[in-house]
Amino acid sequence: MTDSDLRHVIAVTGAAPYDVTVGTDLLEEAVASVPAEAARVLVVHSQPLQRKADYLKRLIDESGRLGVLVEVPDAEAGKTAEVAAFAWGVLGKSEFTRTDVVMALGGGAVTDLAGFVAASWLRGVGVIQIPTTLLAMVDAAVGGKTGINITEGKNLVGAFHEPLSVWCDVSFLSTLPRNDLVAGMAEVVKVGFIRDLEILTLTEANIDLLRSVDAQDGSRAGGETGAGVSGASAAGDGSLDPAAVPVLVELIRRAVQVKADVVSADLKESHLREILNYGHTFAHAIEYTERYQWRHGAAVSVGMVYAAELAGLAGKLTEAEVERHRSLLSALGLPVTYAGGRWDALHLAMKRDKKTRGDMLRFVILQGIGNPVRFEGPDPTLLIAAYDAVSR
Ligand SMILES: NC(=O)c1ccc[n+]([C@@H]2O[C@H](COP(=O)([O-])OP(=O)(O)OC[C@H]3O[C@@H](n4cnc5c(N)ncnc54)[C@H](O)[C@@H]3O)[C@@H](O)[C@H]2O)c1
Repeated sequence: MTDSDLRHVIAVTGAAPYDVTVGTDLLEEAVASVPAEAARVLVVHSQPLQRKADYLKRLIDESGRLGVLVEVPDAEAGKTAEVAAFAWGVLGKSEFTRTDVVMALGGGAVTDLAGFVAASWLRGVGVIQIPTTLLAMVDAAVGGKTGINITEGKNLVGAFHEPLSVWCDVSFLSTLPRNDLVAGMAEVVKVGFIRDLEILTLTEANIDLLRSVDAQDGSRAGGETGAGVSGASAAGDGSLDPAAVPVLVELIRRAVQVKADVVSADLKESHLREILNYGHTFAHAIEYTERYQWRHGAAVSVGMVYAAELAGLAGKLTEAEVERHRSLLSALGLPVTYAGGRWDALHLAMKRDKKTRGDMLRFVILQGIGNPVRFEGPDPTLLIAAYDAVSR
């Protein structure tokens, strides 16, 4: 295995093309990629990434620019209008101009917030995304969607703002709480089911390795823990098992490639981009019903099994293909069932989802693995039968 096997550049094309680099130890390159005209770089991060943010600032300062750090509240608490306004204030006080740049260093919450701050400062300045969770690497940081939450709902305010570049540095995953790593694997596996079957094969062949990629115990509250995203163990030493690195790089490369292909062909959310929502209709209903105490990836895991059951009932997936969902996701430590007796609440939540058109429920299901199709307004008896199959 050479270093070049561990470094891949994926092009996202379209009106504002950019590259996503996947590899290890990429921070210096990320700083070197800052456009020559930029004199200042704002690094947005939350507390768990403090040490890395300090290091990033040092690299930026050494490159002859002014690095400004802004620490924001962790996770969803950082995705608010108040925090965005605080960051705008820092940009104003530091006299950031149109040619200066914002850098996001963090999980999806930070990449969403920093992207939104960059999209809105002086009507749009460049943002460089450095995702540090698996979910942010394969999903949030790629595709240009940015946003914040308001009391009335998650991600209701935002903008499309393509980054200048994205740096998926797998080394970050060494400190990621295991529950967050496992939740990110749900999005990776999702891409396998909708498009890239090699992801499924690779994951199945490396389950033990992926389950033992050790970091700290997951500390976030979450009802899903009892339902399967557990397996947290002793705190890791902050370095990845060398055997896991090429596997993670390859899985991330493949997942990013599919997202890049989809968003390149379909920049604003419409037809093709919809396939990325596999499992998400039911997942959003779980998240809403659980008041967002479940990790997104855990909800998507159950959502994919639900969608597979629907497809099985509609004669589009075989029993073995439905079972493959269940066995792969549960082997990773993800939940594949949800509490019984909650159909009415889940049904209502699905109907209020922003992706529902009118009253008609829309799902992405598979007509054979790797072939997603839209499934609109299914017969209610099918919906309930699929729920019975995933409830416990
Ligand atoms: N824009 C999009 O297209 C898109 C897509 C999917 C999800 N999202 C958004 O992404 C967010 C979820 O992202 P997430 O799952 O990355 O959660 P997150 O950003 O909340 O991060 C999870 C936790 O991990 C910590 N963390 C991050 N990197 C770490 C590291 N390397 N080591 C140790 N701890 C680390 C964070 O500080 C946080 O506590 C949601 O807000 C969601 O709406 C956006």
